[in-house]
Amino acid sequence: MTKIRAAITGVHGYLPEYRLTNKELESIVDTNDEWIRTRTGITERRILKGEGKGTSVMGIEAAKGLLEKTNTDPKDIELVICSTVTGDMVFPDTANLIAKGVGATNAFSFDVNAACSGFLFGLQTASMYIESGRYKKILFVGADKMSSIVDYQDRATCILFGDGAGAVLLEPTTEEGVGIQDAFLRSDASGVEYLHMKAGGSARPPSIETVQAREHYAFQNGRPVFKAAVSGMSDAITKVMQRNQLSVDDVAWVVPHQANIRIIESVARMADFPLERVMVNIQKYGNTTAATIPLCLWDWESRLNKGDNLILTAFGGGFTWGAIYLKWAY
Ligand code: UT7
Repeated sequence: MTKIRAAITGVHGYLPEYRLTNKELESIVDTNDEWIRTRTGITERRILKGEGKGTSVMGIEAAKGLLEKTNTDPKDIELVICSTVTGDMVFPDTANLIAKGVGATNAFSFDVNAACSGFLFGLQTASMYIESGRYKKILFVGADKMSSIVDYQDRATCILFGDGAGAVLLEPTTEEGVGIQDAFLRSDASGVEYLHMKAGGSARPPSIETVQAREHYAFQNGRPVFKAAVSGMSDAITKVMQRNQLSVDDVAWVVPHQANIRIIESVARMADFPLERVMVNIQKYGNTTAATIPLCLWDWESRLNKGDNLILTAFGGGFTWGAIYLKWAY
């Protein structure tokens, strides 16, 4: 029997208008444009402004654009998945709000929380539903409003993050040479001490003390995360390439999570990959967590060809990490 695979049949993104430049950050924390550019590769990031506007606002915009450009009737969507660590509320799921916002009234929905690896974990989850043969149209969104959990008094962290959303449509294919081929995913909670948000969950519910201690912001100890990110992503790329007998020349593009240009360069070097075939847009958007990979695919969409081999890779809080090998479908 021919194997059913999941294919990405459309991609779209949304970025809020407001540009938070390095220059503006100089007026907020003790930093400077030169340090940020040379240490991270970031020039500006987008920020979602407006009282009461959460991650779903961006997810809905990205998803609406996607449904329109792929001529998809929202009522045909059977499942909506949203990867995010900055859901509008603790519950209900942001995917639920996105489904309502786009009119996906026949879908069920849920969120995936894998921090910066969210796009990989969600994509593999969606892919399994398609491969089961029971689902034909899945809307998958990676979206984060990082500005809502960034401490603008912590100069080592606040310069990194931005807001954004990316959405993909997943459909089944039996065509040879397209679709999601393989995934290598891992998680290890021994990394929790280096990257987490302490309060607001059931272990430390919100209180005056947690607010005063600034525990509702993302905490990061950058150096150990940097090291683990480089080794985790290069190892995942190597594993996926080896078990699919792929050489560097076989791969059209590596699509890495955008956390720091120096991490991306180190991963490319360790995996022996020329930087010309590594997608980088961190300078424009910073780290948008679950949205970085779909925003890269969106930015590069016109340069991708059917059958191109892509390796997506990410590393994030948890720790979580991995790589997905897919053949571009259109
Ligand atoms: O996506 C989720 C996973 N996250 C990541 O992958 C992020 C991984 N980590 C990183 O990208 C980097 O570790 C950072 C960008 C967070 C920090 O860069 P670094 O090269 O590791 O710098 P550092 O923390 O070792 O700090 C070097 C110096 C320190 O000063 P001293 O102690 O050498 O005097 C910092 O205080 O740079 C200082 N510094 C800054 N200076 C100006 C830290 N942040 C800033 C800043 N502006 N914004």
